[in-house]
Amino acid sequence: PITAARDEEGQLTLGGLGVAELARRQGTPAYVLDEADWRRRARTWLAAFGSYDPQEPPVHYAGKSFLSKAVARWAAEEGLGLDVCSGGELAVALAAAFPAHRITFHGNNKTVAELGRALDAGVGRFVLDSHEEIDRLAAAAIERETTAAVMVRVTVGVEAHTHEFIATAHEDQKFGFSLAGGEAAEAVRHVLKFRAGGKTPPLELVGLHSHIGSQIFDTAGFETAAHRAVGLLAAIRDEHGLVLPELDLGGGLGIAYTSEDDPQDAFSIVAALKAIVARECFGYSLPTPQITVEPGRAISGPPGVTLYEVGTVKPLEGLRTYVSVDGGMSDNIRTALYDAAYTCVLASRTSEAEPMLARVVGKHCEAGDIVVKDAWLPADVRPGDLLAVAATGAYCRSMSSNYNHALRPPVLAVLDGAERVLVRRETEDDLLALDLG
Ligand code: LLP
Repeated sequence: PITAARDEEGQLTLGGLGVAELARRQGTPAYVLDEADWRRRARTWLAAFGSYDPQEPPVHYAGKSFLSKAVARWAAEEGLGLDVCSGGELAVALAAAFPAHRITFHGNNKTVAELGRALDAGVGRFVLDSHEEIDRLAAAAIERETTAAVMVRVTVGVEAHTHEFIATAHEDQKFGFSLAGGEAAEAVRHVLKFRAGGKTPPLELVGLHSHIGSQIFDTAGFETAAHRAVGLLAAIRDEHGLVLPELDLGGGLGIAYTSEDDPQDAFSIVAALKAIVARECFGYSLPTPQITVEPGRAISGPPGVTLYEVGTVKPLEGLRTYVSVDGGMSDNIRTALYDAAYTCVLASRTSEAEPMLARVVGKHCEAGDIVVKDAWLPADVRPGDLLAVAATGAYCRSMSSNYNHALRPPVLAVLDGAERVLVRRETEDDLLALDLG
């Protein structure tokens, strides 16, 4: 839902800037990110934790939702940690001089080169996802005579109520070590074997990690995850005499894409997580670990809007009207991939015309190229109008492609009535530069 203000001419304003002006200067399609909103959300997540050590912030922004150098700087300035899951994301973070000790490195198949680079950079946490990786990271750390702080990623067996492709804690998927199957306890043994080595142990186990999925509204899944993970913390204490200080419960907090979505705020989620972890730990006479979370979408999604220009309007008698815009599945694959719902508005003007049920589609050579499946737009929507699609700040630019040799739109930050280009629009020269003939 777009609640942004309109000026006296009726055009939508973002960060104090009229969208028509913005489109005239920067072109369409364009991703527009409200910097103040992004920063406010980041601050709210941290505030929800109350007091904490600023060197070890309990909130790690999930860079996969959207990362650029400026956004990494925003995260650094607001005091967040950062979750990266590839060498590329790590490179952007380091290029922005993000404090490496506040970075957590994820991934189910990190390469030896990626692990080495992260160790050299001084990355704060490695989340281990396989036995091969435990050995690889230990070898890389031994080679460098350093110690990597690690967490073991646990599959807690929760069926998160979300799309199958973004649920991650049921048993039949690629991430983590199964808790129920005893694999997680085995992974812990594997990591702890390296304690017995030389003077500098290559791996230091600091905690457990669980991520149950994405776009989740119900805290019950997190509570089950916390319950099971704390059970493993207790088992580790009993078996190894080791009390792990950290428990990372991952990201996945849902946001409102349409008025039917009813997300919880950061304060109530964090309070619920703290309460359940404290209660479970009490039951095992365990000290409560530091809880960390990794929201991506909940920080970067709502502050983002995509601006498109309408090119054609095709009414199909008795069916619906197809409104084609100048982007599509290359800049937002989520509708096609997850059947995701979005909301859009006519942004360049207001209209008194009756609302009609329309489908906003892109310009790609594919019938599934849908941006907004069910869009209520005024019946007089016409070529040249600007449409704004809400809540596209997460997983749109970061999952964008050059399908049909589309040029990726720019990412613009708006703040106090001015825009700044964070990522510029691609050009045909950019595409041709990769094509060596
Ligand atoms: N932590 C871990 C370990 C993750 O795998 C993820 C997301 C997050 C945190 C952040 O989740 P968030 O708070 O943003 O939901 N492309 C999909 C989402 C995939 C998310 C993958 N991992 C989408 O567009 O919905």
